[in-house]
Amino acid sequence: MNLSWSLINDNITEKDKQAVIDFLSQEGVRLTQGNKVKEFEKAWSDWLGVKHSIFVNSGASANYIMTAIVRDVKGTGEVIVPPLGWVSDVAPIINLGMTPVFVDIDMRSLAITAKNIENAITPKTKAIVLVHALGFNGLSKEILNLAEKHDLMLIEDCCESHGVQFQNKKVGTFGDISNFSFYFGHHITTIEGGMVCTNNDDLYDLAKMYRSHGMTRDARLSVRKKYEKEYPELNPLFTFAVPGFNLRSTEINAVIGLEQLPRLDVIIKKRSDNLKIWLENLCDDTFYTDFILDGSSNFSLPLILRDDDHDIFSKVCQYLSDQKIEFRKGTAGGGNQTNQPYLKNYDYQICGSLTNVEHVHNFGLYVGNHTELKKEQIELLAHQINDITL
Ligand SMILES: Cc1ncc(COP(=O)(O)O)c(C=O)c1O
Repeated sequence: MNLSWSLINDNITEKDKQAVIDFLSQEGVRLTQGNKVKEFEKAWSDWLGVKHSIFVNSGASANYIMTAIVRDVKGTGEVIVPPLGWVSDVAPIINLGMTPVFVDIDMRSLAITAKNIENAITPKTKAIVLVHALGFNGLSKEILNLAEKHDLMLIEDCCESHGVQFQNKKVGTFGDISNFSFYFGHHITTIEGGMVCTNNDDLYDLAKMYRSHGMTRDARLSVRKKYEKEYPELNPLFTFAVPGFNLRSTEINAVIGLEQLPRLDVIIKKRSDNLKIWLENLCDDTFYTDFILDGSSNFSLPLILRDDDHDIFSKVCQYLSDQKIEFRKGTAGGGNQTNQPYLKNYDYQICGSLTNVEHVHNFGLYVGNHTELKKEQIELLAHQINDITL
């Protein structure tokens, strides 16, 4: 059996492409952000169970919007972030004049823990960024309580975790604000794309303004009226309330999203089934297999050695390369963000040790997970990997 597989297969179908062609074939069709974007936002909000969604051109853009909102609402200060996630969880914090404070992750959820977060809270803390990494739930009652008790904004990064559940509700609906990515390889794709989600009307207005140059014209009537009254000399169509960005997407991307969304639940089920097969067949003594699977919705198949064994890790990497199986060392975002050069010229803090993330950085990787994978193929790879580690 041919083992080789890529991180993701082509997840834009012929039917998706046809939907774009049909859309483009309409006479006088508008392509910049318009009704299709609104339709996709509404469909996404309904699927997720959240009041508002704002479609943007990437998950990273969504991170920028959320961080800018923290700064506006809370002022500058410290933001607690995971060292395992993605560069865009950290870059907006430093670029917007705040300080990232890294705390370690738990080996069974790959997310930061309540205890580590609590130890890092100071009078300067403004927000917690919780990344649900690789499709594992990172939320706990304790984290929600901490955010409430210390009046911190809770940002959920769900870019790798579409459909993950906590307490029978989808993640991305618990925090003040959350984001999703629709980049190629994520659960669904709009080529490039992301979503900011919130139940809070004021944050919704801010997110829409940040998406579009800071202009008030996208906000609710009450907000527009407020600015018109305060700045009567300004053109209401060119009133810039916040130092915004242009992070809009297009109607074409929204058309693809609308085509993909009805498939999402099936994709989540298949990815979750694949993960179970993977973990059931890997050797527990050699690899971490006891992840918390409650409510998970897998992004990619984790392969993390239990021991700090460089020889075995090199052997596994060599084997995967030989078999033409794509993998990413370090798992989410390439592993420990604090090892990355981009941080070197900026202020950041580490609270406690980063032992777990450093282990994942050095002895962990992931292999792609997608709907076309066959049970036998996953079993075979797991068994062959077990064999070469003996
Ligand atoms: C956890 C996380 N956050 C943010 C992003 C950024 O999303 P995008 O690639 O759509 O910019 C990613 C990308 O993979 C991610 O994994």
